[in-house]
Amino acid sequence: MAIVQVLKNAQEVARAAAAFIAQRINANPKLVLGLATGSTPQGTYGELARLHRSGNVSFAAVTTFNLDEYLGLGGDHPQSYRFFMNENLFNKVDIDPAKTHVPSGVARDPAAECANYEQAISAAGGVDLWLLGIGQNGHVAFNEPGSAADSRTRVVDLTEDTIAANSDGRFFSRAEDVPRKALTAGIATIREARSLLLLATGEKKAAALHHALDQPPTLDCPASLLQAHRDLTIICDEAAASQLRAR
Ligand code: GLP
Repeated sequence: MAIVQVLKNAQEVARAAAAFIAQRINANPKLVLGLATGSTPQGTYGELARLHRSGNVSFAAVTTFNLDEYLGLGGDHPQSYRFFMNENLFNKVDIDPAKTHVPSGVARDPAAECANYEQAISAAGGVDLWLLGIGQNGHVAFNEPGSAADSRTRVVDLTEDTIAANSDGRFFSRAEDVPRKALTAGIATIREARSLLLLATGEKKAAALHHALDQPPTLDCPASLLQAHRDLTIICDEAAASQLRAR
């Protein structure tokens, strides 16, 4: 059963999400934490950095695994997800860089990189809590519509709508610059996390969130495949919740 918390705006979502994550770290300093990129979690990372500065949370023993990375972008490329994570969180807290994992977009053998990523997650004991966003088309990480429920970390093609969504000037300014492929954790990889925390903000996510939570699970909406998870929390703002069935 999913727990849905609806807050006024994105800032409140960021505060609540950061408090949720910090509380999990404080309960288990060796937490294995799954992370996401995109505009949605940016505020949460800012809040976590603030909580760290004020002495309210330490990442010293935390291990992280990110969801995805663009194929072809190295960690020094400003639009790579590794770069995003360094800038938004890792450089601002006391995490050991060796304990942060993002699939490499420039691995010589991307399929082997994906298999190694799954192994690294297993070797760490699995993910305790995975922070997630949702795409306007219902994608989770880069699991686009049609992704199998038992999918694992792999190389995928991005859809035109995801390329368009990510080239609206927030990250890339031209669709031609967005890589066409990515490495992504699969739906099964994500579902195996012991807890999931999905964030959604803004009206553009309202239809996807409605589809993900109010309708029977379908491959057309990858996020809906997470519905049956036994520990799924959704924190969203009023705009993203505007099409949700009353609960
Ligand atoms: C991107 C990422 C996802 C992210 C989603 C939403 O393409 N691969 O992990 O959750 O799209 O991004 P945003 O938060 O910027 O709307």
